Amino acid sequence: MDKIAFINDKSFLIRDGETILQFVRRNFGHDFVPTLCDAPNLDPFGACRVCSVDVALVQGGPAKAQASCHTPVVANSYIYTDSARIKRLRKNIIELVLTDHPLDCLTCEVNNNCELQTVAAKVGVRDVRYPEGKNHLDRKKI
Ligand code: FES
Repeated sequence: MDKIAFINDKSFLIRDGETILQFVRRNFGHDFVPTLCDAPNLDPFGACRVCSVDVALVQGGPAKAQASCHTPVVANSYIYTDSARIKRLRKNIIELVLTDHPLDCLTCEVNNNCELQTVAAKVGVRDVRYPEGKNHLDRKKI
């Protein structure tokens, strides 16, 4: 018997052994859910959590954030890819990554071909947050 799950309240057939990310990509395209640590030559291990989606057992019910790249799809579950909570979570994760990343984009050899830049733009990060009274020059002194 066919099994289904829901993506943003639309039903789709599940394939055996499929992760939530594979399920969403198969139905909505590769870039529908942003990822950072997902790499085709590595087993998914859920390190960055940028691929998080909300998963509920009933439509619109209480949801739990799950790393979609290594979480199997559960039959009849409801997957929400862009809830306000998930968007905020992804943005916070990228902001946190950027606090420990060199900000020399203009002189970086992968500028404009950088996965982190792409994901940051996708999740809406436009600025790097610094503690009050600090800026990027303070960080270079460390
Ligand atoms: S892409 Fe990093 S945890 Fe899924």
